[in-house]
Amino acid sequence: MIISFNPLTSHPSITDNEIEEMIHTHEDVLHKVQCGNTDHEGSLGWFDIDHSIPKDTLKEIETLATHVNSMSKVMIVIGIGGSNRGAISALNVLHRNTSSSTSLYFAGDSLSNQSLLDAIALISSVDVTLNVIAKDFNTLEPGITFRVLRDEMKKKYGKEYNNRIIVTGSYGKGQLHEMALQYRYHFLPFHEEIGGRFSVLSAVALFPLKVSGINIDALIEGAKEVQEELTTSELASNSAIRYAMFRYLLLKKGYTCESLVTYEPDLKEFGRWWIQLFGESEGKTDSVLFPLSFSYSEDLHAVGQWIQQGPKIVIETHLMSYHDNADIIIQSSNEEDGFDYLNDMNFKELNKVVGQAAINAHLNEGVPSSIIETSHPLNEKTLGGLYWFFLFSVYVSCSIMGVNPFNQEGVELYKKNMYSSLGK
Ligand code: PA5
Repeated sequence: MIISFNPLTSHPSITDNEIEEMIHTHEDVLHKVQCGNTDHEGSLGWFDIDHSIPKDTLKEIETLATHVNSMSKVMIVIGIGGSNRGAISALNVLHRNTSSSTSLYFAGDSLSNQSLLDAIALISSVDVTLNVIAKDFNTLEPGITFRVLRDEMKKKYGKEYNNRIIVTGSYGKGQLHEMALQYRYHFLPFHEEIGGRFSVLSAVALFPLKVSGINIDALIEGAKEVQEELTTSELASNSAIRYAMFRYLLLKKGYTCESLVTYEPDLKEFGRWWIQLFGESEGKTDSVLFPLSFSYSEDLHAVGQWIQQGPKIVIETHLMSYHDNADIIIQSSNEEDGFDYLNDMNFKELNKVVGQAAINAHLNEGVPSSIIETSHPLNEKTLGGLYWFFLFSVYVSCSIMGVNPFNQEGVELYKKNMYSSLGK
């Protein structure tokens, strides 16, 4: 599977020469990044897929998923940020391929009283398992949600409640592993050297996806293929490196926002996953692109006007990846509706033509644009490949910006304020 990157020329255009020069300037660091050999030991557990999801963890995932499927209609996944966006985004793309009788319900990513009541109602109405996920088990939202829902589980299932709790976490004091041992929950580990937003290809997202019957082996296979390609190809033809350079050059020309544009509504949550990945990884300096994501056609009727004629601060990255499905050919109609000009057109073609029209209009107005395209339709393998492509791209990008992609001190500062307001 190939994920290609192609800049579209516009004013002010970035030429291939500029990209090549930039690659040349950063050659040394790029070679290191390609080997996962930068100063970020302790945070690169995601880089090699075999390490990110070891065979024995895959086995545990399978066993536990069978256990959950045999006794629960719903698994409530409690997590926030990197601990739930991966699974949510994959499930939104692949929901037609789920094959189990257990569905997923996501909780613990807000402090909404209503959301919590909804989760409590679920526990009282159907058989449920809880999967609580945390990198560091001190985040307020999932932590307190787990406490409330755990009590509901105790009320419903008595002392057997712990057989219905699966924690995905890391080892260490005060961490979920300790709690799992103490209260006899099932435990699924993920490497300490994998940060939340880099954890989509670990047990964090793969376990819930397996519970819902998604073919996670194919997801992993796609990621491995792309890992192999991007870690071995020449710098100048490496699509992720070219993408990172292109957006970096545009940042240097004064652009301040990047919009990832998708054309399948099922990719909206993937856009949110991408926003978190780039926002939390790069957003540590004054000079950085603010990540946005829009879904076309829908958002052409919302922010299209702004992109077209508002200030020229946005660059557009068009993610051209589509579902593989039956053709719909538009038939003529005996009711006059004004749409005869579309007779005999393939609906899929229509999506592409409209997208192209928007791209051209934006380009003509001076919106720098590029296309990231997948050689295969949107399926498990392609999605796995896309995750690794963007994980690697942000690692490249931060490395040339001189930013540590793997910490999030800003988030820790807000947490400190919150703890002091709450008297912790
Ligand atoms: O990328 C990250 O590390 C963060 O976004 C975390 O995923 C998020 O803050 C949730 O942290 P935790 O899983 O420890 O509750």
